[in-house]
Amino acid sequence: LKVAVLISGGGSNLRALLDATAEPGFPARVACVGSDTDAAGLAHAEAAGVPSFVVRPRDYGSREAWGRALAARIREQGVHPAAAAEAAEQPGLVVSAGLMRILPAPFVREFSPRLINTHPALLPLFPGAHAVRDALAAGVAETGVTVHVIDEGVDTGPVLRQARVQLRPGEREDELHERIKELERPLLVQTVRDIATGELDLAAAH
Ligand code: GRF
Repeated sequence: LKVAVLISGGGSNLRALLDATAEPGFPARVACVGSDTDAAGLAHAEAAGVPSFVVRPRDYGSREAWGRALAARIREQGVHPAAAAEAAEQPGLVVSAGLMRILPAPFVREFSPRLINTHPALLPLFPGAHAVRDALAAGVAETGVTVHVIDEGVDTGPVLRQARVQLRPGEREDELHERIKELERPLLVQTVRDIATGELDLAAAH
């Protein structure tokens, strides 16, 4: 299974995927890494010898044009949403792991359901860009992480896997987020593995 990973930040989830997919026998490999910015996490792709690219929104006249350019770079690296017509190869998978930008509807329509995201909350609780802060502010006893299919909403697609953490009194946002990531990284790796083996059928997710 060829995977394209999209990031905007430090890329610790990307690094976990790069490490896991480098293991002999892992049924997927990271074919490319894309970002909307000069993300620090691109260094993990370079270190792993994986092609990476930056597609900057400001270089395009619209979100849709940006989405088309991003989709073209992903397909160039052999990651296709549907089984490639000529080859018998498996369709690819796009993984958003810390991409801090909403993917435009045409992009989602082209790649979903072979398009997943990881979100640091127990969706449908706390969607949006400040999930960890929102959970802390809400004073909930537990939160966690969700891996889901991206649909045309924001953090609204079918949930694939979740993991839970209990909040600790007085914990700061960055501390809680790091504890969430300790579960998120293996959860994402296992989800990609299950998609690659067919254990998890994205077409059946709803
Ligand atoms: C992850 O927790 C992801 O769920 C959220 O942004 C964070 C990215 O972390 N959307 P990293 O860049 O993978 O370390």
